[in-house]
Amino acid sequence: MPDRTDEARRLPRVRDEMTPKKVFIKTWGCQMNVYDSGRMADVARTLGYEATDDAAEADLVILNTCHIREKATEKMYSDLGRLHRVQKARRASGKDMRVAVAGCVAQAEGAGIFSRAPYVDLVFGPQSYDRLPAMLARASRKERVLETEFPAVPKFDNLPAAHTGTGVSAFLAIQEGCDRFCSYCVVPYTRGAEYSRPAEAIEAEARRLVEEGAREITLLGQNVNAYRFGLANIIKRIAVIPALARIRYTTSHPCDMGDDLIAAHRDIPKLMPYLHLPAQSGSDRILAAMNRKHTVDAYCRVVEKLRAARPDLALSTDFIVGFPGETDADFEATMNLARNVGFAQAYSFKYSRRPGTPAASLDGQLDEAAKDERLQALQDLLLDQQKRFNRSCVGKTLPVLFENPGRAKNTLFGRTPYLQGVRTSGPARLAGQEAMVKMEAAGSKSLKGTIVKGP
Ligand code: SAH
Ligand code: SF4
Ligand code: F3S
Repeated sequence: MPDRTDEARRLPRVRDEMTPKKVFIKTWGCQMNVYDSGRMADVARTLGYEATDDAAEADLVILNTCHIREKATEKMYSDLGRLHRVQKARRASGKDMRVAVAGCVAQAEGAGIFSRAPYVDLVFGPQSYDRLPAMLARASRKERVLETEFPAVPKFDNLPAAHTGTGVSAFLAIQEGCDRFCSYCVVPYTRGAEYSRPAEAIEAEARRLVEEGAREITLLGQNVNAYRFGLANIIKRIAVIPALARIRYTTSHPCDMGDDLIAAHRDIPKLMPYLHLPAQSGSDRILAAMNRKHTVDAYCRVVEKLRAARPDLALSTDFIVGFPGETDADFEATMNLARNVGFAQAYSFKYSRRPGTPAASLDGQLDEAAKDERLQALQDLLLDQQKRFNRSCVGKTLPVLFENPGRAKNTLFGRTPYLQGVRTSGPARLAGQEAMVKMEAAGSKSLKGTIVKGP
């Protein structure tokens, strides 16, 4: 039996060994990356890592990166520089910190990341998260880890079943990869070929998410409506889960908006009347050069059919301005498309030349100033449309799904069916529930209202 001083001496060491390791994950890019980061946290948890939002206390840092535009990639490198200083400080105090670059930059640049940032320990692409345990074991033996192969079996169904920290609104990936090869886009190269998860696995995951508190599920895919076993079928299949209140999906390609999916917007009340449908350009000539495989007219016909099926449908979109060869007339056609459709919300980007994509070597690359000017004009128009849409909701009473308490006491944050953020006063216990809210004021980004009828 050790004496008390011995015991006292031993205890702190035992505690130290039991201190869980910490993982810090930073995410750039699309919703799929957000979902992937959650799944990486789940894998790390099975290895004894607790999530932290402070990189300085992390034993493992994972940067889940985006390659879609040059800016996204550069941001990742400037973050890496800062992390290197944190890593040196931790090592100076006898602790370690492994740095991993995951996601689409990892896939695209591979070993190039080690040359530019030699203190990085692991580089792995979006298809390898299920192999994280083996990769970390190798890294702990001071091996440098590079995994950018596309495996025969996609990662999804090798990942742990449990999700950590499912919020009221959860993402669920049903499809990954893209076979469309738009001429400007890196995604087909960073995410690989289209793969659709089996419907049973998706339903099981949806049920687990709902058990853990999700009330809204957004089905995800780079090209979600190309889901091979029918996106409408999946929506129907999960709509029967009683506690699931809302279903959304993103991102859709206009060419894959089948009639069954359009009908689902009419027939399934849980499917929210809001759709993100990227248009990219309002000029047929540019759409052809982009390899979008649809015309402006075809896009508008899809919108018409959707609005016929669900008259209150609100639309969101993506536009690229300054694609190689885009003339003033092409740009004006884009402005016209926006004016004609009327978007509730939209993202617009300056064309970014991505190495290895067909558009990067096209003639007629525009200078930044011309792109800036067009982007400004388009964004002014789109912001104006967004404000108008939000103002049109003032005076209406809409169902709001509360996601979380607001920062101030007795306030709540939630969303309308049209994805607008809403602030109200109300008790924190309403998080996760839907209530009817009368809209009283609108800004460009969100609405304010009062609960008129509780859940
Ligand atoms: N799979 C989705 C979106 C992928 S990327 C789709 O098909 O719509 C998200 C958006 O980034 C795209 O819709 C496009 O508008 C934009 N984007 C992609 N590549 C780009 C590039 N090289 N330069 C500027 N914007 C780009
Ligand atoms: Fe990129 Fe086009 Fe595929 Fe969307 S559909 S991910 S824009 S290649
Ligand atoms: Fe970016 Fe990859 Fe998503 S490039 S937008 S993180 S698929």
